[in-house]
Amino acid sequence: MKVAPSLLSCDFSQMGNEIVRIDQAGADMVHLDVMDGHFVPNLTIGPAIVKALRPYTKLPFDVHLMITDPLDYIDSFADAGADIITFHLEADSDLDRTIEKIRERGVKPGVVIKPATPAEAVFPYLDRVYMVLVMTVEPGFGGQSFMADMMPKVKAIREEISRRQLDVLIEVDGGVSAKNIDIVTEAGADVSVSGTGVFKADDTAAAIRYLQGFRAE
Ligand code: DX5
Ligand code: ZN
Repeated sequence: MKVAPSLLSCDFSQMGNEIVRIDQAGADMVHLDVMDGHFVPNLTIGPAIVKALRPYTKLPFDVHLMITDPLDYIDSFADAGADIITFHLEADSDLDRTIEKIRERGVKPGVVIKPATPAEAVFPYLDRVYMVLVMTVEPGFGGQSFMADMMPKVKAIREEISRRQLDVLIEVDGGVSAKNIDIVTEAGADVSVSGTGVFKADDTAAAIRYLQGFRAE
């Protein structure tokens, strides 16, 4: 299991140092939550902040766009140094064009589904995406409770990827912690986003290692 700590739960006055801290603690990528106050009822960071943070680590930047018009902002986030850009199927942009645009910019595309969106909604895009992100909370805020009833959705997407012999990662985002990582792994996810579970842990490195699947004897 790869672990992508969500900066949404970090100390916002120390974002650069927080990235260095999770890098040294063994994180696999950095998850950056972009919210526009429209697609979700919260505002976070934009491309200028992503760009300012880029020099702090060589870890991949996994940029999760929770915005209404993702297509309009692909260039800005690609220029800012995103390695992966995921956007919501529920957004207003032309989805095919958005995937194409992300690819044209040399960035890895991913599609995200909210809890109410069924697994089958991503099937038409599986041959063109690097990753599928399954939300296990309603997007908008960190620190919410994990929705275990999303696991059948993860399994259904995993099965479809295997059936078609595709190479697509599944990422799970929202409320993931030591308490539920085993069922996330069991369902077939490859990447776990964790904000509170990593940044509020007493021992960051131990929390990341546990989520990655390393267990003490
Ligand atoms: C929610 C965000 C998540 C969230 C994860 O809208 O997409 O990335 O910050 O944080 P925790 O792990 O605290 O739920
Ligand atoms: Zn996220």
